[in-house]
Amino acid sequence: MATALERLEKLLAEPAETGDGFLDLLGAASQAGPPTGLTQRLMRTTLLPQVYERYWRPALGRALKGPFGPSMAGEVRLATDLLHLEPGDTVLDVACGTGRFTRAFGAAVGPDGLAIGLDGARSMLTKAVAESSSDVAYLRADAVHLPLEESTVDGVCCFAALHMFAEPETALDSFARVLKPGGRVVLLTSARRGWQPARVAESVGGILSGQRMFDRGEVAASLRARGFSDITERYAGVTQIVAGRLT
Ligand SMILES: C[S@@+](CC[C@H](N)C(=O)[O-])C[C@H]1O[C@@H](n2cnc3c(N)ncnc32)[C@H](O)[C@@H]1O
Repeated sequence: MATALERLEKLLAEPAETGDGFLDLLGAASQAGPPTGLTQRLMRTTLLPQVYERYWRPALGRALKGPFGPSMAGEVRLATDLLHLEPGDTVLDVACGTGRFTRAFGAAVGPDGLAIGLDGARSMLTKAVAESSSDVAYLRADAVHLPLEESTVDGVCCFAALHMFAEPETALDSFARVLKPGGRVVLLTSARRGWQPARVAESVGGILSGQRMFDRGEVAASLRARGFSDITERYAGVTQIVAGRLT
């Protein structure tokens, strides 16, 4: 039986090099797409991937989600449920970081399915490969212009990343393009609150860190405009989890 990397290779629109346990479409480039600021730069350091899953993401996530937002395990459960993953499905984890969600998706789709983790940072993917079994496949590529063929995946997940892309709307176009009809998307991203002083502070924080602050309802409307239906939105602190099905 073909390996997960070989099966991933067949879904790509262009040939990729084999990196250290992952496929690589970025070659010598240090990052995918134009730089968007401090947070994106931090993701490419060698230290951050070592502390990312255990300390960085849970702590930062709690600060941004507030006391009532989901735990990390809760986020993974919610993403898996909202994607309605079934054994045999193909699922793409965009901006997968160290692969926490990708590994869970791999378990949900089983050996007949394929979980793909895509990220632009070599250091993140090196850690992801070290933490994963051979059932998942990782790809170094640009999340904004996805290199997969059209209508190839049953689910797209993009957690904690859309707000740091240079062109988030183009990324959403890409997500819709690679999804099969009836496929599902789930996103966790920023959400500015309605109260004016908070909006100003949140916008300044976003500019300083190089992250875009979306308005409540903005991402849902963008999905609707791209043909998604059954849209759900969950807000916690300055975050939102938005899911939908491509009709
Ligand atoms: C905060 S981490 C999120 C990781 C994981 N999804 C999670 O929720 O924990 C953001 C990731 O986005 C990646 N990233 C940012 N811009 C990207 C781009 N244009 N293409 C591919 N990956 C990108 C970074 O390398 C980083 O690993």
